[in-house]
Amino acid sequence: MIKKEYDAKLRKDHLLNDNGEEEKKEMSSLRPLTLKEYIGQDRVVETLKIAIDAALKRKEPLEHILFNGPPGLGKTTLAHIIANEMGTKIITSSGPALEKGGDLIGLLTHMERGDIFFIDEIHRIPKIVEEFLYPAMEDFAVDFIFDKGVHARTHRYRLEQFTLIGATTRAGLLSSPLRERFGITRDLDFYNEKDLARIIKRSARIINVSIDDDGAHEIAKRARGTPRVANRLLKRVRDYAQVKADGLITKNVAIDALNLEGIDELGLGDIDRRFLKTIIFNYKGGPVGIEALSATLQLESDVLIEVVEPYLLKTGFIIRTSQGRKVTERAYRHLNIGNFDRGLKLWDTSTDPY
Ligand code: ADE
Repeated sequence: MIKKEYDAKLRKDHLLNDNGEEEKKEMSSLRPLTLKEYIGQDRVVETLKIAIDAALKRKEPLEHILFNGPPGLGKTTLAHIIANEMGTKIITSSGPALEKGGDLIGLLTHMERGDIFFIDEIHRIPKIVEEFLYPAMEDFAVDFIFDKGVHARTHRYRLEQFTLIGATTRAGLLSSPLRERFGITRDLDFYNEKDLARIIKRSARIINVSIDDDGAHEIAKRARGTPRVANRLLKRVRDYAQVKADGLITKNVAIDALNLEGIDELGLGDIDRRFLKTIIFNYKGGPVGIEALSATLQLESDVLIEVVEPYLLKTGFIIRTSQGRKVTERAYRHLNIGNFDRGLKLWDTSTDPY
């Protein structure tokens, strides 16, 4: 791949969390397999541990669990850990992959007592499939419907008592009947720098690269509070350290490598800056609706809502109002746009935008 294409791919990967197959494989080797190894999300981990220990003591399957939070924070990892800790199988699927009721029934009828059924992006499950899920979750049964109209008959098929683990980046899009059928709901939040630095050091040990404390903290600072991003940045910095330095990741090596990747000291990348600058220069700082932004940026609104915005909201670069998104003064300062000391208005864009 020529350098320009490669850079474009890196940027897209950074934005969409869309790794190549090889990288996906390498990433999964970094996943912790037990709750003990899991770093961060302390309250979530603690409460899960209690639920697992109690279920094991009672020799019962776990209740259904819903994980909600931005991509890359560990929802899938936790589902695998739970299966591991419970000593059961995990069967994985995703909302968009379950197109018909039959897709779901095929999987459910093969499940043994206590097995985990993991549905990623559960908010994207089609309505007709969702309706099969209700009796499956509540009564451990699926209703087959034969014939149509007045001849319609149903046959109830018993399922083994399984545990559904759903993961979503948009809990608000779940219908309330579905949401109410989960016994345990946990929101995952962005990680702090300290926990991310620990994750980076653990990953560095696994992929066999040397890193010092300051190097790990520098990557952690730029990882958008997200372990998946942290691990990806670690690999880019490892490459850089091996080619341009003597293989050791120090603070300066991390700074140089990540600056080259277009990742700034707060973790913002090209897309984040384009997002903020579009609001500032095209929409006078906002408020602007997400569909208008999506059209201007030529990026799907779902990607903006699920991938780009959560971190910008968390770090206070944008706010959401009933009229749409607005950038904050913090964003102007960070991007060095406008001159606050001379009292220029926020949307005074006399400084060159792009
Ligand atoms: N790798 C990715 N996420 C992790 C976590 N939360 N703890 C340990 N290692 C990880």
